[in-house]
Amino acid sequence: MNPQGLNEELQRHGLSRRDFLNFCTSMAAVLGLPTTAASAIAAAIEDPARPILVWLEFQDCCGNTESLLRASHPTVADLILDTISLNYHETIMAAAGSQAEAVLKKTVQENQGKYIALVEGSIPTGADGAFCTIGGRAALDIAREVCGGAAATIAVGTCAAFGGLPAAAPNPTGALSVGDAVPGVKNLINLSACPANAENITALVVYYLTMKSLPPLDRYRRPLFAYGSFIHDNCERRGHFDAGQYVEAWGDEAHRHGYCLYKMGCKGPATSQNCPTVKWNEGTNWPVGCGHPCLGCAEPNFWDTMTPFYGRLPNIAGFNVGEWVDPVGLGVAGVAAVAATVHGVAEVARRGGHKSSSNENKKAEPKS
Ligand code: SF4
Ligand code: F3S
Repeated sequence: MNPQGLNEELQRHGLSRRDFLNFCTSMAAVLGLPTTAASAIAAAIEDPARPILVWLEFQDCCGNTESLLRASHPTVADLILDTISLNYHETIMAAAGSQAEAVLKKTVQENQGKYIALVEGSIPTGADGAFCTIGGRAALDIAREVCGGAAATIAVGTCAAFGGLPAAAPNPTGALSVGDAVPGVKNLINLSACPANAENITALVVYYLTMKSLPPLDRYRRPLFAYGSFIHDNCERRGHFDAGQYVEAWGDEAHRHGYCLYKMGCKGPATSQNCPTVKWNEGTNWPVGCGHPCLGCAEPNFWDTMTPFYGRLPNIAGFNVGEWVDPVGLGVAGVAAVAATVHGVAEVARRGGHKSSSNENKKAEPKS
């Protein structure tokens, strides 16, 4: 679409050129790029040679699609992802049945090696694929064909990225992540979380359009711009954690004052995602911000490793604070100074424990 075409689309949706440029600037911020990158982002979106998107939905709850559609009013991101670029998305497209399948077939055949596949949901491999079929074809067959012909594949949400709830023991459907079900898939990026944040979906697509390459990834093939730091590192309650001020029961005074939720099961110290900075629902709020602990939904196998969700797990890998929080909690105000000192030691230990993984993150190279 040329700039004129885009402007007409913006107008049709009640959006201005200024809205579009603001969107480009906000994408640069999410991606950690300088604001000057906004003009390159705008040019990439307006480029008629922009790759199209194909969204596959398999064994899932539709939560990632809901996340994508979260806007209460049409935004520039909706316009770009849905109206302009998204060729196939069976849940939201107007076509249905064989008509919809024909769109997918045509898109894949005519754009080999050029489109981006986004996959939502895990891929069941048990019973010869009978647990999830679309148009009479097993999910695995469709994923192999569509992801196999894509320039890049984005596994959207924890089910697609890591198997998610369907793959939790005993995994009755033989559910696999995209990476495990279609090994060797080209340029795979995992955008985990339950669901994935629409801001990150949009930012990743925008990055790819602008840079024509994958962003730097961590050891789980997640983009560092969204998963490069722990929830705990940017949490607005972090000052309370450092001061040894914890919520001890739902609705207690500490909860009403916005104290740290670690003792109520918060997995923020062991979870990487940009929730505290990007937030959800168009920047309205995020789980910890509204008083609920982080459940660790962006981490592999969180249904197994982060449960019980409301129980404190002291033995999460790389998480060394467990041993000292209980004594601190016995007399919060009186021992805050002690807590700060002990915390300093624990932090050094924790960061040391994570050193190898963060180095690994920096070194991780995209698959070619
Ligand atoms: Fe925030 Fe949770 Fe860390 Fe407390 S434990 S500071 S609530 S992320
Ligand atoms: Fe998930 Fe924790 Fe963010 S539960 S949405 S990673 S705050």
